[in-house]
Amino acid sequence: MKVTPQHHVIHILCRPTEPCFVPKGQMRLAFDVLNNNFLAPQFQDAGMELEERYSKEKRTLVPLKEIDFPDLSGPMEIGREDTFCIFITHHQRMTEKLLNIFISSSEYDDFLSAAVYARDRVNPVMFVLAYSIAVLHRPDTKGLQLPPLHDIFPDKFLDGNIISAAREQANVLTAGESSVVIPPNDSTASDLDPEQRVAYFREDIGINLHHWQWHLVYPFFGPMEIVNKDRRGELFYYMNRQIVARYDNERLCNHLGRVKRLMDFKKPIPEGYFPKLYCSVAGRTWASRCSGATLSNVKREMLNIVYDLDDLERWKSRLIEAIHLKRVIDVKGTIVPLTGTDGIDILGDMVESSKLLSKDYTYYGDLHNKGHVSIALCHDPDGRYEETFGVMGDTATAMRDPVFYRWHSYIDHIFEMHKNTLQPYQHSELDFRGISVEAISVQAKGNPKENILKTFWEERKIALTSGLDFTDHMPIHARITRLQHRPFSYKIQVMNQTKKICKGTVRIYLAPKYDEGGRPMLFIDQKRLFMELDKFQVLLFPSPQLNVIERESKDSYVTKKVEKSLEEIEKELMETENANRKPFVDVCGCGWPHNMLIPKGSIEGFQCQLFVMVSDAEEDLVDVDGSYSKGSSYCGVRDKVYPDRRPMGYPFDRLPEDDHDTLEKFVNRSSNMAVQDVKIVFEDRAEPTH
Ligand code: CU
Repeated sequence: MKVTPQHHVIHILCRPTEPCFVPKGQMRLAFDVLNNNFLAPQFQDAGMELEERYSKEKRTLVPLKEIDFPDLSGPMEIGREDTFCIFITHHQRMTEKLLNIFISSSEYDDFLSAAVYARDRVNPVMFVLAYSIAVLHRPDTKGLQLPPLHDIFPDKFLDGNIISAAREQANVLTAGESSVVIPPNDSTASDLDPEQRVAYFREDIGINLHHWQWHLVYPFFGPMEIVNKDRRGELFYYMNRQIVARYDNERLCNHLGRVKRLMDFKKPIPEGYFPKLYCSVAGRTWASRCSGATLSNVKREMLNIVYDLDDLERWKSRLIEAIHLKRVIDVKGTIVPLTGTDGIDILGDMVESSKLLSKDYTYYGDLHNKGHVSIALCHDPDGRYEETFGVMGDTATAMRDPVFYRWHSYIDHIFEMHKNTLQPYQHSELDFRGISVEAISVQAKGNPKENILKTFWEERKIALTSGLDFTDHMPIHARITRLQHRPFSYKIQVMNQTKKICKGTVRIYLAPKYDEGGRPMLFIDQKRLFMELDKFQVLLFPSPQLNVIERESKDSYVTKKVEKSLEEIEKELMETENANRKPFVDVCGCGWPHNMLIPKGSIEGFQCQLFVMVSDAEEDLVDVDGSYSKGSSYCGVRDKVYPDRRPMGYPFDRLPEDDHDTLEKFVNRSSNMAVQDVKIVFEDRAEPTH
């Protein structure tokens, strides 16, 4: 069998707490750490015995290049069983050290040896993070597929009960296949908590994976060439804005008001959260938060993290002052204006914040990240109970908690303050002369009526085997239920009176028509709720021809490609080896989960407005050959600049003119825009994946 770097990736990530000399997966691949000094100290005494035991097993040994072993003393300061939190500066610094080792290894074989050497020595969560970022960014590993995180750490996504039931089955079964069924929507609270109505959104595996993946591609720490990406700060703003907008849409579908910002750090937080997740690395359950909890000063010396709520207040005021003065002052004292072009990008990196990219990290601070830490430790801020974090401390779990959205809605509010200092778009910035959108409609598959979208529950199996460390490799699955929609297509009719072929950018958004009180939305509120559904280019032929653009929902550039599980990647590797063909296309795993493209709607039908704008691609595109691709709207295009020159969220990112108090008035001004009422009907039944 030919072992390729893709085999290495999946086997290094498979069962991260199980040592790498234990054969893994269908191929029973193991790394040859026993015959030289690679073996981690905790196994060294048993070296001979281990060699004897595993040499009898059927296995493929992967040889390792001899290297000068990297100095891991820093990263190993974080214990193997410690709870890891990327928002803590010390944990960040140690991850950065590990990442630097991986990135600076000159040849692929050196990188592989360094990774295998570190794997069983450092904290497994830190390892998976640093290794995944390295694979995504090293030139010799780009294009390799990372298995989804729920394959590696299913315990970050599924109730502890499910994991123990699966373990039990894996240990008892000797053959065959088994499923542990997880019923929908019952994992973390009962209906007594109204917030439970949107748990299907918060606890959706795809949504949490998206957040983890986004931060892998856009880490706020690490080598400058990895951190400093085109419009990174603006992408943080836009990804954040879209998440809050989508959550608010989901809330309105479920008769909940829009999310309230977490503005006052000293006021009790009404929403509690009891995650019911068991962290197998730390051997602990993730901490819970009761309703009415308050934030306090954080004084956790053991974690190297000490700061006051007053620090958060100070950073907040300094950021807001900078926004109103339309400038920031960098670390050298230079005045940097916050313009309509890159002001949002500068602010995004300062608010998040990235120490490397912030104009002055000491002065403007670390508002968003430390907000996460304060909330994640609010149950034990001074460490007297020796408790670890709540789910807000991890990018793979944070979106489960209702408070995530309150905090991010506040972060969005800060960005909005900046956007409100900018001039409304002038007619010339919105218009596409000679182009008119004549009609738009959507059609769901299997539904004869136009402009009605349908959602339902979908049952789907996810594989657990590669995350059930120290069990036999039995095929075990969990059956989960998630929101899904019937595929639909857009039909957009456009006239081109310019007498020449034009290139247009089609921008499609959706927002609710009425507010929580049933009143028609004011444009100023509605513009913040527009969810981007798609953005793509078209050629427009001159009249008398009518351009009829048809576009399928599954091709959306907001959502990601279908993801392969670790088992599927392995299977594909085995099949392609037999067929002797090249296995993979380049994927970075970015993009919003496709099942969550549109909100749930309601049984009676949730009233929305579909907005379509066709803008001039000659002016929009940064590079004439550039184009959008799967997942590019919230995540950019790999190794390229963001293709769309317009500010992200255009045309809804700025205040409208005073006389545009409704969407209709805004749309009627420009012939290249159109709006259509659409209903989303939820069918309350579960269907298996097709
Ligand atoms: Cu956050």
